[in-house]
Amino acid sequence: MKEYSTPLNDPVEERRALHSTESKIAIAGHPLHAMLVAFPIALTFSVLGADLLFWWTGDTFWALAAGWASFGAFLMGVLAGVTGTMELLIVRGIRNRSASWTHFILAVMLLSLLGANWALRIGSPVEAVLPLGLMLSFVAAGMTAMTGWHGGKLVFDYQIGTTPGGNSRS
Ligand code: HEM
Repeated sequence: MKEYSTPLNDPVEERRALHSTESKIAIAGHPLHAMLVAFPIALTFSVLGADLLFWWTGDTFWALAAGWASFGAFLMGVLAGVTGTMELLIVRGIRNRSASWTHFILAVMLLSLLGANWALRIGSPVEAVLPLGLMLSFVAAGMTAMTGWHGGKLVFDYQIGTTPGGNSRS
């Protein structure tokens, strides 16, 4: 096996400042982003569920429910995105991890899908469902699963947004 004369350098390991990823957009240490993301995730899947129920039953109630849920998903997604982006820009350790930027790119693509799925339904929530609304809802739900899974990876695998060493339990 080839021997390296100089050791390989890991800039993240070398510079202490890169290690601090503690959330700053938080209430009493609890990150706002983590609190908000539950809403776009739940509402995006609600839109898909309501679209499928409209397709199945033909009851316009479900198309109207999907229209309102798509508005909520986009609105809450933007709010979650604003808090996430503030963390990304303010906290140096978060900004320095490439995984944070991967999450940002996934999230921005998701937000444009959520915006499109809502915009399509404005003024014609019933006509918009089949087929384009339902197709967009499927893609948005898949994208939400990917973005949410990746967000969890940031926190649980890379400890991004967490307090090093934890806090005391008192
Ligand atoms: C638009 C820009 C976004 C940025 C820059 C961003 C950034 C971040 C960051 C830095 C974290 C680490 C925890 C923290 O510091 O709060 C995180 C976690 C997470 N993000 Fe995002 N995010 C964005 C949008 C979204 C959206 C739209 C979703 C919804 C699917 C999402 C889902 C998650 C989840 C599920 C976590 C893990 C939360 C936890 O379990 O503590 N993010 N995000």
